Amino acid sequence: MSLIPRPYRVVDRREETHDTVTFVLDPAGEPVDVFAPGQFAMLYAFGVGEIPVSLSRAPGGRRLTHTVRAVGAVSRALCGLTAGAFVGVRGPFGTPWDIEAARGRDLLVIGGGIGLAPLRPLIDTVLAQPYRFGRLNVLAGARTPDDLLFKDEFPAWGKPFSAVTVDRPSDDWGGRVGVVTTLVHEARFRPGRTIAFLCGPEVMIRATARELIRRGVRPSHVQVSLERTMRCATGHCGHCQLGPLLLCRDGPVVGYDLAEPLLTVREL
Ligand SMILES: Cc1cc2nc3c(=O)[nH]c(=O)nc-3n(C[C@H](O)[C@H](O)[C@H](O)COP(=O)(O)OP(=O)(O)OC[C@H]3O[C@@H](n4cnc5c(N)ncnc54)[C@H](O)[C@@H]3O)c2cc1C
Ligand code: FES
Repeated sequence: MSLIPRPYRVVDRREETHDTVTFVLDPAGEPVDVFAPGQFAMLYAFGVGEIPVSLSRAPGGRRLTHTVRAVGAVSRALCGLTAGAFVGVRGPFGTPWDIEAARGRDLLVIGGGIGLAPLRPLIDTVLAQPYRFGRLNVLAGARTPDDLLFKDEFPAWGKPFSAVTVDRPSDDWGGRVGVVTTLVHEARFRPGRTIAFLCGPEVMIRATARELIRRGVRPSHVQVSLERTMRCATGHCGHCQLGPLLLCRDGPVVGYDLAEPLLTVREL
């Protein structure tokens, strides 16, 4: 794990939506260690600051792919970088998705908004070895049709089921409308033999996890990726504390059996 930012160069940049950009980064020197799906890097925009960003494509060689939504100073600076620009990279940090737990089982991969980005490397990994897993269902929600990420990839993802829904449809939207939880009843999974992977706003995570548990998925079989403000990312500063957990070290991916009691306490 690299604790000092290593220089990486932007070699590819793709605008996913009006506020979200995917970058491919190539090491300009010594690369950081290989990431696992679900882990995150601290990306440093020179002169502006450093933020946690998950891997958004399965690791391949020395390159890193990240998808960033511009919400504030640092994420806006990163989204503004063009090919040839440099960023600093520390990592890999945090717990990965436990993909091995899904071996032989059905998968429910459920993302809200930018939450689909940390899930994409998991989907890549499953699709690369489909014989090891049961049915793959990918469900995604976004605020509007213009906010949907990775639209082109959806047809290849859900085997047997993938679907998207939006909160606020545009005039020309012919698809589903409503929160992502409403897609669960359409998915094809055997609750007792299912592992679910959830990432998105906390309210979405709580509602979706509750619905899955109501349908018979075990809480420990619902893996969720949680966000808190991060500074050191090495378990020292305490910024990312959630109850007894430091999410940079004990998360971001945790089982819902562990997360649920912590997410229901407002002060945490
Ligand atoms: C483990 C982890 C993985 C992440 N992965 C990604 C990713 O793959 N892609 C991506 O775009 N973002 C990701 N984020 C969120 C990203 O780190 C924040 O958007 C970023 O820190 C905002 O910093 P800023 O300086 O741009 O904005 P700030 O000025 O710090 O914040 C702008 C607004 O965003 C809110 N905000 C700040 N941090 C967070 C946060 N962590 N979660 C929710 N809201 C926040 C603030 O309350 C404020 O309203 C991840 C966060 C964590 C903890
Ligand atoms: S970010 Fe410092 S302890 Fe987690």
